[in-house]
Amino acid sequence: MFATIDDMPGDLRGKRVLVRADLNVPMQDGVVSDATRLQACVPTVAALADRGAVVLILSHFGRPKGVEKALSLRPIAWALGEVLGREMAFVADCAGPDAEAAVVELHPGQIAVLENTRFHPGEEANDPALAAAIARLGDYFVNDAFSAAHRAHASTEGLAHLLPAFAGRAMEAELKALEAALGKPERPVVAVVGGAKVSTKLDVLLHLVGKVDHLIIGGGMANTFLAANGVDVGKSLCEHALADTAREILTRAAAAGCTVHLPYDVVVAREFKAHAAYEVVNIHEVPADAMILDLGPLAVEMLSDVLKTCATLVWNGPLGAFELEPFDAATVALARTAAALTEGGTLVSVAGGGDTVAALNHAGVADKFTFVSTAGGAFLEWMEGKTLPGVEALQQEHRP
Ligand code: 3PG
Repeated sequence: MFATIDDMPGDLRGKRVLVRADLNVPMQDGVVSDATRLQACVPTVAALADRGAVVLILSHFGRPKGVEKALSLRPIAWALGEVLGREMAFVADCAGPDAEAAVVELHPGQIAVLENTRFHPGEEANDPALAAAIARLGDYFVNDAFSAAHRAHASTEGLAHLLPAFAGRAMEAELKALEAALGKPERPVVAVVGGAKVSTKLDVLLHLVGKVDHLIIGGGMANTFLAANGVDVGKSLCEHALADTAREILTRAAAAGCTVHLPYDVVVAREFKAHAAYEVVNIHEVPADAMILDLGPLAVEMLSDVLKTCATLVWNGPLGAFELEPFDAATVALARTAAALTEGGTLVSVAGGGDTVAALNHAGVADKFTFVSTAGGAFLEWMEGKTLPGVEALQQEHRP
């Protein structure tokens, strides 16, 4: 059980609240190119400011080695101010005497972004001295950054042991949705796992086969499973060295009563580029000089039928080379089926991971899923069944 901002005093005037957000957003030419994570922290920041708190926002940005001007949070602070529709202050350090002097100047209800926590080596080392220096700036700690909760860093984990710690609205929504999807889900549960390589999702697959009733494997990683089953996948992306691992996953799935769905037909092409000439073939007829770039229409139809029999869906990773038309077709079609079933009230659908969100946006259904996580690595670690240190530190028994 974790406490939320509803458990904090209603009147926060005279208090400073440190909010760990994830402002690690994609930038192009100095401009935020996807503001999803900025929008995600608005409900928490606005609610605390409205209750009179001085809100001090902590975040990392990129992976700097020491102070790197190019990775300053300053431009992102202004972008967040615009998204919030409120004035934004910026404090040029997240700890130390200058930061301490700056935060006492802020008025009730004022919001400030503090400079990149990773400018201090103690952040990633989870140095207690840095956590203590940050803690001196505030009275309460609110963690609203599920997507950084897989990191045991000073501002995600250490700080939660030093101040009364609460989950922000975005963190709360993530934890509730994830609990509904894999904690105590309505059955049957289906997981869709796609993406290029089995090697990056071995632990996810091993965990899921013991948890879900149906596992749909798509993307390049399906080729590794097909090849392990003796299918000739031609020039397709395939990790042949992982054949034994793939067979092990299939054996464990069978023992656990999890049905694994591999493609039945596929779309093949000779070039990896948009609008390359393609054909649809049965998996046993992949030409030796061609590569699999998407699932075929029969596979999509069969997988849609699987979704129709299920009550809960967890989705990570695209089913084909979705960034290249027309090899986005299977991902788009199955995502739309999931969205329609969710709208019809028969399916709880939870999705996450960088490419997945991009794929659902591309299919125009991201807002029709029950919940789409803003997390990348943290979502994967959660799908692996791991305990996330940032979440663990919020549990009531660990609170100061
Ligand atoms: C993310 O973008 O997934 C989070 O912000 C974590 O970033 P990191 O992988 O650099 O720790």
